[in-house]
Amino acid sequence: MKKYFFTYLLFFSILIGFHACQEDEPVGKVDFELKLPPHFPEPAIPVGNELTQARVDLGRKLFYEKALSIDSTISCGTCHPQSRAFADAEAISLGVQMRIGMRNVPVLGNVAYHPYFFREGGSPTLEAQVLGPICNFDEMGFNARELADRLAVDSAYQALARDAYERPMDLWVITRALAAFERTMITGDAPWDRYILGDSSALNASEKRGWALFQSEKTSCSNCHSGIDFSDYSFQNNGLYDEYADPGRFRATLDSGDIGKFKIFSLRNVELSGPYMHDGSLQTLEEVIEHYNQGGSNHPNKSVYIRPLGLSEGEKTDLLHFLKALTDEAFIHDPAFGPD
Ligand code: HEC
Ligand code: HEC
Repeated sequence: MKKYFFTYLLFFSILIGFHACQEDEPVGKVDFELKLPPHFPEPAIPVGNELTQARVDLGRKLFYEKALSIDSTISCGTCHPQSRAFADAEAISLGVQMRIGMRNVPVLGNVAYHPYFFREGGSPTLEAQVLGPICNFDEMGFNARELADRLAVDSAYQALARDAYERPMDLWVITRALAAFERTMITGDAPWDRYILGDSSALNASEKRGWALFQSEKTSCSNCHSGIDFSDYSFQNNGLYDEYADPGRFRATLDSGDIGKFKIFSLRNVELSGPYMHDGSLQTLEEVIEHYNQGGSNHPNKSVYIRPLGLSEGEKTDLLHFLKALTDEAFIHDPAFGPD
């Protein structure tokens, strides 16, 4: 709990800082055009952190910067590799000095649209979120002030910070540049997207049946996994356990009605993001589908949509094929999101 208290305190101080500066004129030319698929709305970009090429470039460099961790061994990209849509292959990833973290790493595509971050919603903005992993003892295990001092002696970073924000390389710049880069990570070019945009041959017959089933009353999947990012970002209990070791949303609200509720995860690139759920307890998509088919636990907070579905083997296969049609190959190979 103490660990969390300090993290929240940090988020809070950064937020106050943001409000104080909201009147600021945008620094630098807004010369970055976010490439959005035609069916995606414009994401809200916070005043003061408009996208510019210099900001996005600096953020990308920082995302792959190992000096962000206390012993310079891991970067954001270590736990969030592009080849897996920025999730990783472990149930629970390892931080510095092989310390074991708390949760499964989520995919980072389309984070520009998320109203809050982490599975209990503990971080209100992408800018504030950055401090979470840097300061978390089990992740990068560092201290925000020392990190700023470490990067400030680097003349290359000083020059990039001036270009991007017209200020020295400090924590302000680090949090903003990383957030700017993350907002450019848009994923919306999977076979399903091409189908929705009018190419009826982009999905095969099984994938089409799976998509219909996903939206049907028989499964209710799209009641929670809705919209272009396959999540309405609300907190729901999807019946994983009778008793939760990680109480989810309850951590932020201390309301017992929130025990076992987690932010609904996007299903984009889900084929690449296993193992699944907040704790990585389900190994494969087949296991996930079987979990929903069985109807889950008897937890009092379980959503009414989670109940035995009675799917046939054919229907389970169709659902699986549909989920795999959400993989965006262009996204995981785009050099704009990779290291230099
Ligand atoms: C040691 C592994 C590790 C490192 C290093 C790491 N992350 Fe994460 N990241 C995670 C885990 C685990 C979660 C899920 C935490 C949760 O849900 O509470 C996460 C969650 C996130 C989220 C929230 C996603 C969402 O949908 O709510 C963002 C954004 C993010 N990380 C960005 C970063 C950035 C930027 C860095 C570098 C400053 C970074 N991460 C470093 C493991 C890591
Ligand atoms: C009541 C809302 C709800 C319904 C209905 C629902 N889900 Fe989920 N789903 C969630 C939540 C919440 C999570 C994240 C749980 C966690 O983090 O432990 C999740 C996670 C998942 C994941 C894992 C994502 C990941 O990256 O770990 C998959 C896959 C998934 N759901 C598929 C489905 C399918 C297929 C259906 C329909 C059969 C469905 N869901 C129905 C709320 C729902």
